[in-house]
Amino acid sequence: MACILAIETSCDETSVAIVCDRNCVSNVVSSQIAIHRQYGGIVPEVASRSHVETINDAIAQSLTEAKLDWSDIDAIATTCAPGLVGALLVGLTAAKTLAIIHHKPFLGVHHLEGHIYASYLSQPDLEPPFLCLLVSGGHTSLIYVKDCGKYEMLGATRDDAAGEAFDKVARLLKLSYPGGPIIDKLAKEGNPKAFKLPEGKVSLPSGGYHPYDSSFSGLKTAVLRLVNQLEEEGGELPVKDIAASFQDTVARSLTKRAINCALDYGLNTIAVGGGVAANSELRKQMEVAGMSHNLRVLFPPLKYCTDNAAMIGCAAADHFNRGHVSPLTLGVKSRLAITEVMELYL
Ligand code: KG4
Ligand code: ZN
Repeated sequence: MACILAIETSCDETSVAIVCDRNCVSNVVSSQIAIHRQYGGIVPEVASRSHVETINDAIAQSLTEAKLDWSDIDAIATTCAPGLVGALLVGLTAAKTLAIIHHKPFLGVHHLEGHIYASYLSQPDLEPPFLCLLVSGGHTSLIYVKDCGKYEMLGATRDDAAGEAFDKVARLLKLSYPGGPIIDKLAKEGNPKAFKLPEGKVSLPSGGYHPYDSSFSGLKTAVLRLVNQLEEEGGELPVKDIAASFQDTVARSLTKRAINCALDYGLNTIAVGGGVAANSELRKQMEVAGMSHNLRVLFPPLKYCTDNAAMIGCAAADHFNRGHVSPLTLGVKSRLAITEVMELYL
């Protein structure tokens, strides 16, 4: 069994966790959402500074909550790609320093591999192969999970990611940041059939549509046009109906692609991950569609959907158990394909 102290600072959560294989022993998450809300989105420099201020306390707290000390830790891991470079550097520097001081092996982890591993934390019996629908602020991906470190991208976003679309539409509706949870809440009181919006299909040069890729920028523009038109007509903006119609369209589009992809590739399990996996309508539609096609659909608990270090520790433990460690010369990368994960290990 491998016990990992893991750090996640790729975006706007400072998180430190201790994970022993697939068992999360402690998971400290300090969110910067309140800080970034006043700017209407994430300000990278502010994120880096806030990570610097919080990281040491989070490390100490993770050990206290786990009732463990450094002698119980087998290796130190951190997210090193993809993400905001300044933010990633805070976690990387902390992890390397701890590895050197405490004479522990060091592992860099791919953030998206972490989101995939969030499903193992709540379903320790889960084994590849399965399909992962990864929907976050930066990604809308369908990933064929073959084994630890072995992934094939079957579908991606051509422009805005699902979470980005939620955040941008929330801004159009003059709602606060981040938009996903607010739209989710308002949509519960709205009519999802009030407005017909485009599903975000991606045309192929040969005709027809790409079966698994998605595009949400057209949907966002359609909401913008709708808002402009309704404002010109005067009266109060039906925010709840727009939120419900938008959310229903995104959930339908993601569900259709994920189910078709799993069926086409003969995979009987779909694990959903990333911040948008917290969305109640997506959960409902995926569960109903999964049941009717006899597919197992897994959603991690909300605390493992949004960014957290427990998922990073779980991925690191699997790599460490296979003898994978990273060199101390490893740097951070703002972009790195999930198919290139093994670049991070010796
Ligand atoms: O995975 P995550 O925490 O960070 C990234 O790696 O991007 O995802 C953040 C995204 C934000 O865009 C946020 O609006 C969205 O997840 N999100 C939601 C919900 N909760 C968070 N989107 C829809 N419904 C939700 N309930
Ligand atoms: Zn994430």
